[in-house]
Amino acid sequence: MRLDRRTLPTFLFTACCAAVSLSVFARDTPTATAPAIIPLPASMEMDAGRFHPGKTLHIAISGKLADRSAIATLANDVLREAWHRPVAAAPTQGHADLRLVLAADAGANRESYTLRITRDGIVIRAPSDTGLFYGLQTLRQIATPGSSASAGLPALHIADQPRFGYRGLMLDSARHMQSIPAIKQQLDLMARYKFNTFHWHLTDDQGWRIEIKRYPKLASISSMRKETVIGNPDNGATARDGIPYGGYYTQAQAREIVAYAKARHITVIPEIDMPGHMVAALAAYPELACTPGPFDVYTTWGVSDDVLCPSPQTFAFVEGVLTEVMAVFPSRYVHVGGDEAPTTRWKQSALAQDIIRREGLKDEHALQGWFLRRVEGFVRAHGRTIIGWDEILEGGASPTATVMSWRGMQGGIDAVRLGHDVIMAPTSHVYLDYCQSKTPGEPLCIDNFLPLRTVYDFEPVPDGLTAPQVARILGGQGNLWTEFVKTQQDVQYMLFPRSFALAEVLWSPKQARDWNGFLLRVPAQFAELDRLHVNYRRLDPQ
Ligand code: ACM
Repeated sequence: MRLDRRTLPTFLFTACCAAVSLSVFARDTPTATAPAIIPLPASMEMDAGRFHPGKTLHIAISGKLADRSAIATLANDVLREAWHRPVAAAPTQGHADLRLVLAADAGANRESYTLRITRDGIVIRAPSDTGLFYGLQTLRQIATPGSSASAGLPALHIADQPRFGYRGLMLDSARHMQSIPAIKQQLDLMARYKFNTFHWHLTDDQGWRIEIKRYPKLASISSMRKETVIGNPDNGATARDGIPYGGYYTQAQAREIVAYAKARHITVIPEIDMPGHMVAALAAYPELACTPGPFDVYTTWGVSDDVLCPSPQTFAFVEGVLTEVMAVFPSRYVHVGGDEAPTTRWKQSALAQDIIRREGLKDEHALQGWFLRRVEGFVRAHGRTIIGWDEILEGGASPTATVMSWRGMQGGIDAVRLGHDVIMAPTSHVYLDYCQSKTPGEPLCIDNFLPLRTVYDFEPVPDGLTAPQVARILGGQGNLWTEFVKTQQDVQYMLFPRSFALAEVLWSPKQARDWNGFLLRVPAQFAELDRLHVNYRRLDPQ
């Protein structure tokens, strides 16, 4: 039986009580409790007094903004949602309820901002549009939608900047696909919590989801599986539902997502997973495999022995695909997977064994290293950088490859010691497809367990590294695989509140992290998710 998730046990705080006193940040004379902001700003001091907005709200913007009208629109929306009063542009000098100032000297970190509220008004200063954007996201959590204009806002001073430059969420659109509006809604939510990277897992054994014009059968054949396993094959499930499932994003739709994300200061990183997790492609182009096939788009979950064969045809395919992918996705990074590629077929393949001999390689793992270094060279020649899952280290990765450590932290530790940049995304702390609770009624999920507290306790920088090694840890990422996550409601349920915790891990200073304080700030965010009709898992009684 599946319960309505909202009927699960609730934490006894409500949004009204969520404003909390942040004693570590408050000065001696605060006149108000600190607003419930997630992620917690790097520094926040409450001051005496309050700001009361005018009957018509005036916004002034100064400085050389890259996209003035986008920031103006967001500022209008935030103020209008808060107080439902008309908003007008104000002259750059003179009175303004909200003043936005872009000044090159406002902060060394381009994502930083300061936000000051005094009796006279609100001032956000930042060195870039991105900093202003994040300042407005913070303001939205202070001047919350529908709040009382007569009560106004408490005077305060925030000086904020992220701890990490890479703050990511990965969404698997291969196992189950999400609609374009659903992905846009996720990007909106990511921006609110200051995530700046959307890693889009577009291909896997169970479906190929991105149109590639020079390989049209990826859309007509690889995007469709004829049915799907019911339940969890790890627990012995074998029955299939008999229902065809599939679809793909056109390049025009993918460009629309890239533009939508960019407007929210989010970069989209596409992932084309290779040489494993390629059965869907082999179903359309069996000549890319080491054995004759035929292959069917996978209808169950797990890892397949059938992988790309390291043949000239395969390299032509990979380069053709990546050429189109790089044209659609302008991100510096292109993710080429590299995970879970069994060597079974390569062991039996004369072609693979010939390359091992010719290149003087030790074994099939070294051959995978050779394969991915060749792909890396192609991507680098186009001015881009590859990301690979931590298995890419096993065969010897090109030093310019960035490593995404998922099988724990050790891959990331090894990688920074070898001089790679690293993104930490260990199963132990950020696999958002894992079950959040062992309570009955939890939706079907991978059997592993990842409660909110474990995400909050994630520390992307392990002990024992040198300062230059620490500097190579770009940040972290939560991964939402979707074998068991079928609908947008399900996606949201897995994301929230765990991505609140991850947002705080990746943005806030390590020493400011405070589990009990975090729990007190979550309900105000739940109130906002309720208003936006976004699903989430309620907090357990503490
Ligand atoms: C992975 O979870 N296979 C990267």
